[in-house]
Amino acid sequence: MNATIVLLPGDGIGPEVVAAGRVALETIARRFAHTFTFEEHLAGGCAIDATGTALPDETLAACKRAHAVLLGAVGGPRWDSPTAKVRPEQGLLALRRGLGLYANLRPVRVHPALAELSPLKPERLAGVDLLFVRELTGGLYFGQPRLRETVAGSGGVVRAVDTLEYTDVEIRRVVRLAFRLAGPRRGKVTSIDKANVLESSRLWREEAIAVAAEFPACTLEHQLVDSAAMRLMTAAASFDVIVTENLFGDILTDEAAVLAGSLGLLPSASLGEGPLGLYEPIHGSAPDIAGQGIANPVGTILSAALLLRYSLGLEREATALERAVDGALTDGHRTHDLGGSLSTTAMTREIAHRLAPSEPVRRSLTL
Ligand code: NAI
Ligand code: MG
Repeated sequence: MNATIVLLPGDGIGPEVVAAGRVALETIARRFAHTFTFEEHLAGGCAIDATGTALPDETLAACKRAHAVLLGAVGGPRWDSPTAKVRPEQGLLALRRGLGLYANLRPVRVHPALAELSPLKPERLAGVDLLFVRELTGGLYFGQPRLRETVAGSGGVVRAVDTLEYTDVEIRRVVRLAFRLAGPRRGKVTSIDKANVLESSRLWREEAIAVAAEFPACTLEHQLVDSAAMRLMTAAASFDVIVTENLFGDILTDEAAVLAGSLGLLPSASLGEGPLGLYEPIHGSAPDIAGQGIANPVGTILSAALLLRYSLGLEREATALERAVDGALTDGHRTHDLGGSLSTTAMTREIAHRLAPSEPVRRSLTL
């Protein structure tokens, strides 16, 4: 197939890991006879320096035209002043909004050879293979009213208000996506809420049940967010697909990242209605190691695998890339964050070597 992929290297180690993601995608294109055209654009701090805005119009327009977007990371101490009017993260938010991305996917698998890097006992990590689907556009982060005021006649008591709001439409579309993703996996969806306390959670649960009826081959279970937080540390292997609202998802996805042992290993995808998606490692710009050529490229390369799977429908290619990463780790290849000494490019080369030759039959996954 022919596909246009926009690369947004961003700041810090972003350019180093995106270069690795590009090598992985180019290797896939060669092995499986695809034509990928890459376009590089500015986003984040580097865009602020060059244009005064974190997401130039030209970047957004290019992303809208593309089949998929691969981003490194944005931000860093240089743009961190609390008084700064323009901030790198605004670029990411504007991009998600501009592309209509409402779900953030974070798969977490624990490679057996890396179990010792996690603070959890190896027996708690065996078989962990879960996929978080976090709602990205609603909830406390965006609800209105949102204010701070001095309470009249209180003698100076200040109150602040955030609003947790969801519509049935917002809930249904993200839960439906979770079920579609669960189909080719183990077919199990866990919806996480706080329905014993919150009205928005009661609506969430009702809508989740209604959507589940459309997917008779899958199962739905509900869990309260507090007990889900414990279960992630005690029995994470019992989860398949987890769907939850914005704030719960923000917290639980970071908790789940601990399972894998290093921030440098984990990919993410942000999806909307169509196939266009934004793919990025979960880590930030890592200013402490930027420019040294030692960043772990695995999170970005696995993000490239998600790009192949969800935006291009190339399941076989995605699996081949994931197997290549697994193989390199199984054979003991390690970057610094994993206790090894390989550079970013050396680790990338180990992964690229292992890409299996193309196979004749292709199965594509359409969402
Ligand atoms: P960070 O994820 O950049 O770094 C945390 C620690 O993990 C550092 O010690 C770093 O060296 C290490 N690390 C991260 N990725 C690594 C990799 N691929 N290989 C090896 N080691 C790795 O988080 P931090 O330090 O809190 O944030 C730094 C900057 O990144 C901030 O400006 C923050 O706002 C931004 N950020 C951007 C994100 C994004 O673009 N989506 C997400 C998170 C943070
Ligand atoms: Mg977070």
